[in-house]
Amino acid sequence: MARHPAILFVCLGNICRSPLAEAAFRQEAERIGLDVTVDSAGTGDWHVGEPPDPRAIAVARANGVDIAGYRGRQVAPADFERFDHVVALDLANLARLRALRPEGSRAALSLLLDHVPGRAGEPVADPYYGAQEGFDTTWADVTAGARALARRVAEAE
Ligand code: 4NP
Repeated sequence: MARHPAILFVCLGNICRSPLAEAAFRQEAERIGLDVTVDSAGTGDWHVGEPPDPRAIAVARANGVDIAGYRGRQVAPADFERFDHVVALDLANLARLRALRPEGSRAALSLLLDHVPGRAGEPVADPYYGAQEGFDTTWADVTAGARALARRVAEAE
């Protein structure tokens, strides 16, 4: 690859799951010494310009990453040119991304947990309407996905 790989995580609101996937991937990339561009976005536009949900900020902080400075944005067709991997957090958003993807775009589109052996096809559940504990599950899921994907990206380098 001519430049370092770029990875975009996409959920619905870009305030819960995808910022946590971005944080977990940054942490894992740093741990294994992988030089990457990482970002996240939402298929929806309700939270554009907003910081992550306070419960997401809290679980990331408890796991050693500060995401308070992240800001929500909506995914756009140009992201399929800017990123090598566009990674959906669940199946509804994967379907939206398939519809948005420009013809002939070079980005690889995948579901996050497809990268984890034994978890293909599983979504990362939306924790937005649940309790704080749901965010611990989200963190565990995005960490498993981030580790598996980071290994795969590192092997392709
Ligand atoms: P996320 O969670 O997709 O993990 O960021 C959600 C956040 C906000 C909404 C839905 C899901 N919402 O409907 O505002």
